[in-house]
Amino acid sequence: MFKIAVAGTGYVGLVAGVCFAEVGHHVTCVDMDERKVNTMKAGVSPIYETGLEELMQKNDKLGRIHYTTDYRTAYRDADAIFIGVGTPEQPDGSADLSYIATVARQIAESVEKDCLVVVKSTVPVGTNDKVEQFIQDFLIHDVKIEVASNPEFLAQGSAVYDTLHAERIIIGTESKWAEEILTQIYEPFHLPIVSVNRRSAEMIKYASNDFLALKISYMNDIANLCELVGADIQDVAKGMSYDERIGSKFLNAGIGFGGSCFPKDTKALDYMARQHGYELKTVKAAIDVNKEQKTLLYKKASSRLITFHGLKVAVLGLTFKPGTDDLRESASLENVPLLLDQGAEIFAYDPVGAENFSKVFPEGKNRKGTIIYVSDIEQALDGANVCFIFTEWGEIKAVTPERYMQLMKTPLVYDGRNIYSIKDMQEAGVEYHSIGRKP
Ligand code: UGA
Repeated sequence: MFKIAVAGTGYVGLVAGVCFAEVGHHVTCVDMDERKVNTMKAGVSPIYETGLEELMQKNDKLGRIHYTTDYRTAYRDADAIFIGVGTPEQPDGSADLSYIATVARQIAESVEKDCLVVVKSTVPVGTNDKVEQFIQDFLIHDVKIEVASNPEFLAQGSAVYDTLHAERIIIGTESKWAEEILTQIYEPFHLPIVSVNRRSAEMIKYASNDFLALKISYMNDIANLCELVGADIQDVAKGMSYDERIGSKFLNAGIGFGGSCFPKDTKALDYMARQHGYELKTVKAAIDVNKEQKTLLYKKASSRLITFHGLKVAVLGLTFKPGTDDLRESASLENVPLLLDQGAEIFAYDPVGAENFSKVFPEGKNRKGTIIYVSDIEQALDGANVCFIFTEWGEIKAVTPERYMQLMKTPLVYDGRNIYSIKDMQEAGVEYHSIGRKP
């Protein structure tokens, strides 16, 4: 078993660290945030992720996982250091690599034995070559250092499961030595390993995420046409899914993709292509379609209602998808300010995302309207003039068409996730608008 250090305890770093411990490695997770480290030491996960806390506590008891701010001690004698820090989007669409650079510098100053540095963060192709050079330049001790690429494919909400049951492990290395270490580290997971060179591994991550984003935007594009020609996107998707070349996943049309990955990674690849004088037309199209899609229902409702001024608006779902408290690039973040600027009185419900959302849009008077957070969906719907559904949480799906009819003042529902049958909503008497289906 290996002595592993993990830099960064976000979704990628913490989940990787905990899963390495779970298969028997000795892991130290490093984060600069002392409060976060203390939280983790107490067995509490700083992120909302199914099954993570249980594994943290189990491996803590077994003495296989530690948390620290002291990177020097953690990196000094590690066999491998995994970097899982963020690469946020910059205003021009490029990836901000400053966190990676900080960790690389710390590694160079700390390592005292031969060590494989493994970059898990999503980084533009060629970054790992530079990280390796950077570490070599600042290395204090005379030790062997090599950088490998090992992109992560977990999805938020199912991160632990995705890591332990990954469909593939991608390892990008430039030497047999690095390839062997990474292969041995992943050996106890018993998962398929695809071994390629470093740049190909970096590209596999972007190409995979952007292909999925493209798939969603394609379905959204077709959905909008379905509405115009009288077809139903859910039936169309079902019919398409029987073709194994297309597959059945990621065919759900809706309010557009959000989260910390697809929006960022599509823009980063588009930027990377432009840097090389190439126009990545398909990815650009995925970005453009997604931008339009986010406010599609708001625009439809605006033309139906003329104004939202003084209207009670129920907003159901704030996070970018169910199973997470993450709001990044969510449809609600885009639409709520538009509604507030129109003077809407919003009653917002989300089973876990309301607290984070209220940090961005504090409760009470806000812009030209008001926003109140409720812990009960029925409270949001009670007396509402219009309802927007932005996230397909189970709790929201459980509300029957009849309840909209009984609770809302005017039962007008705009569903960005196509969670109801049009027939059921219409039979209940609800005026129901969704995506890619005739109302
Ligand atoms: C995504 C990828 O699915 C992971 O494989 C990848 O590792 C991760 O990014 C990453 O790069 O770290 P994630 O952002 O957690 O994972 O969420 P997804 O489940 O992929 O959903 C992203 C967005 O697409 C959500 O807003 C979701 O509602 C939307 N979506 C997804 C659709 O609109 N339609 C679909 O059919 C599927």
